[in-house]
Amino acid sequence: MPNAYISGLGMYVPPKVVCNDDLRAWYDTSDEWIYTRSGIKERRWVEEPASTADLGYQAAQEALRRAGKTPSDIDLIIFATLSPDLYFPGSGVLLQHKLGLETTPALDIRQQCSGFVYGLSIASQFIQTGMYKCILLVGAEIQSTWIDYNPEGRTVGVLFGDGAGAALIEATEDSSRGILSSHLYSQGAYAMELCIAEPSSATRSHKLPGSYGMRPYMNGKEVFRHAVQRMGEAIETALSAQGWRPQDVNLFILHQANIRIIQAVADFFGLPMERFYNNIHKYGNTTAASIPICLYEAEMEGYLKAGDKVILTAFGSGFTWGSVAMIW
Ligand code: COA
Repeated sequence: MPNAYISGLGMYVPPKVVCNDDLRAWYDTSDEWIYTRSGIKERRWVEEPASTADLGYQAAQEALRRAGKTPSDIDLIIFATLSPDLYFPGSGVLLQHKLGLETTPALDIRQQCSGFVYGLSIASQFIQTGMYKCILLVGAEIQSTWIDYNPEGRTVGVLFGDGAGAALIEATEDSSRGILSSHLYSQGAYAMELCIAEPSSATRSHKLPGSYGMRPYMNGKEVFRHAVQRMGEAIETALSAQGWRPQDVNLFILHQANIRIIQAVADFFGLPMERFYNNIHKYGNTTAASIPICLYEAEMEGYLKAGDKVILTAFGSGFTWGSVAMIW
C-alpha cells in the first residue's frame, strides 16, 4: 500500500500588516491585552478586492513549484476554509479554474481550524487506496471581511488573520516516510460555542428576533478549555498509535489559536516550548491556513529535517479536532 507524503509546501499572506495598536481604530483594546492573552503581535489583512480562492491559488502555485509539478499533475483538489468566496459553490472549483484545469475533482471541507488535519487524513486515504497519486490540499482564509468591527466584536476581532497554505501530497512506496496515522473527531453539541450563525438555511431574514446576524460568536473560555483538553488527547492518541513517547517527537505543530493553549499542552506533556513550532505572533489565527503556514515556515527555517517525527494537531469550531503523525 503506498504511503502519502508532502512533496511541496507553499504559503501566501497578504502584504498588509495590521499591528495590535492598529486595531484601536475600532476597538477599546491594547497591544498589552492582546499579546499577553493570545501571543499575537500582528496579522495580515487583504486589501480588497481579493478572494479566498485567490490566496489559495498563490499558495498552491508555490507548492507545485517546490514539488516540481504542474497543475496537470493534480488528481484531486481539497480546499479547506470557513470563509469561502461564495455561499455555494465551494472555493475548490474556483481554484481549479484558476489553475487552468478542466475536470479535475475539487472537494471543499468545512472543518474550520481542523480543516488541514482533516484534509491530510482524507488525502492520505485516497493515496493509500491507490485512487489518486497527487493531491493538492489548500487551507485558505479571508477573515478580515467577517470580523465584527463594532466595539463588542473586540474579543474575536483581534484574534484572526488572513492567509493561505498549500501542500502537494503524493504517493511513495517508501514506507519510512510520510503520513503514518490520523485520528479525527467532532462534537456538534458545541456547534454554537464558536460560530457565524447567518446567513442560514434556517432563516430568511437577518432581522428575526434572537438572530445573531452576520457576526461571529465565541465562548472564549469554553473554547480555550476544550482546545487544551482535546489537542492533548489527540496527541496522546497519535503517540500511542506510533508507540512514541512525547520526547521522541522532533516537532509538534499545533493549530495557532492562542500561545497560552499551546503552552498548556506543552506543560501537560512536560515538554519545552522549543519542541512546538509557533508563528502566531506574526499571523494571528489563520484557521485552516495555520498548520500549512507553520509547516512551510518550519521547513524554511530548518526546523523540519528528513526523518523527523512530527505530530500535527488542531482544534476548532464544530467542535472539530484531530491529529496526524508523520515522518518528514
Ligand atoms: N481588548 C481588551 N479587553 C478585552 C478584549 C480586547 N480585545 N476582549 C475582551 N476583553 C475584556 C473582556 O471584556 C473582559 O472584561 P471584563 O472582565 O470587564 O468583563 C476581560 O477582557 C477579560 O476577558 P476574558 O474573556 O476573561 O479573557 P480571557 O483570558 O478568557 O481571554 C480569549 C480571552 C478570547 C483570548 C481566550 O478566552 C481565548 O483565547 N479563547 C480561545 C479562543 C480560540 O482559541 N478561538 C479559536 C479556536 S480555533
